[in-house]
Amino acid sequence: MAETLTLPKWYDLHTHFRQGANVATYIADHLAMGCAGALAMPNTKPPVARITGEKSDTSWSIEAYRDDLLAAGADAFDQLIIPLYLTRETTPSMIEEGAKSGLLRACKYYPPHGTTNAEHGVAMDNWIGSDVFRAMEEHGLVLCIHGEQHALAGPDYFDQKQTAESVFYTNSLPRVLDTHPNLKIVCEHITTKTAAEFVQSAPATVGATITPQHLIYTVGHLIQGLKYHLYCLPIVKFEEDRAALREAVTTEGQSKFFAGTDSAPHTTKATECGCAAGCYTGGCAPQLYAMAFEASESDLFSDSGEAELKRFLSTNGPEFYEFPVSTETFTMEQTPSKCETHQTDEGPVVPLPVGMDLELAWAITS
Ligand code: NCD
Ligand code: ZN
Repeated sequence: MAETLTLPKWYDLHTHFRQGANVATYIADHLAMGCAGALAMPNTKPPVARITGEKSDTSWSIEAYRDDLLAAGADAFDQLIIPLYLTRETTPSMIEEGAKSGLLRACKYYPPHGTTNAEHGVAMDNWIGSDVFRAMEEHGLVLCIHGEQHALAGPDYFDQKQTAESVFYTNSLPRVLDTHPNLKIVCEHITTKTAAEFVQSAPATVGATITPQHLIYTVGHLIQGLKYHLYCLPIVKFEEDRAALREAVTTEGQSKFFAGTDSAPHTTKATECGCAAGCYTGGCAPQLYAMAFEASESDLFSDSGEAELKRFLSTNGPEFYEFPVSTETFTMEQTPSKCETHQTDEGPVVPLPVGMDLELAWAITS
């Protein structure tokens, strides 16, 4: 009989549920993979840039977007966190009111034009020392950061000596910490050794999420055959970066790194003149994380290996965001399984294993 692993239901602390008819499909995939709750990103169309009130042509409120997600199946989650998209419209009083109402628990920094639907983002230099960040600090809100320097030209954006991410973690984030020492920060979907080392040496107020794809793949996998389903931002990096991420998640007793899949469905991935950034891992993320831990030489059937995966998936995230660990469990079996492409009215949504021709080595059994 295949060996099994039973863990407390896990939390996906960075995912994209989008808007419209497909939302229910994406939420159902999350529920089917033992996920007890999610932090749903605000880079929707329109963006989630207010706290309360009706949806308008230009923005959604956390309250209204939350209601839509709950109606599409998210009411089955224990936790649903929707960060406020930091835009030109964000004010300190919005932060204060949001925090007091309980609707606002986190805010999201997007580098302007740095990724999918990031055109409403305002550059980090404008936030450092701002009353908005001061209000967040005061109310104990979490700053979720897409850590890439925006507006770099090609050779500065991605090259051997630096990437947009390493520039951000070297030049920008230390200034955020110096100016706002009490701000809780999640460095999202980190991809580089530079970012991993920054998080490891930062105070306990700084945590990080890591996606399955950044633990499994390197840029070589993307380029060999131009496997565009692996194209996401920040882009997959080099072997020494992957090794640093693998080490970070499998270090005994680590409390800073946790699951955030960045599952980002696109119904049109490749276009005539480019490619949408984002990998879809709905339905298969814990299986992929288990495979990534095994590739990192973690024996998931040893007490220490199981404990490391449990910390990463099920306990570190809740501890950082200050909500309870799930009292329910889910079970995975070490047996091959498959996931399927969703044929939707908007177009096909291809999960990463299908796009990468990867057979899952684990199956969710309950
Ligand atoms: C995300 C998306 O598609 O919304 N894409 C991605 O490549 N990760 C946005 C993001 O988190 O950067
Ligand atoms: Zn994302």
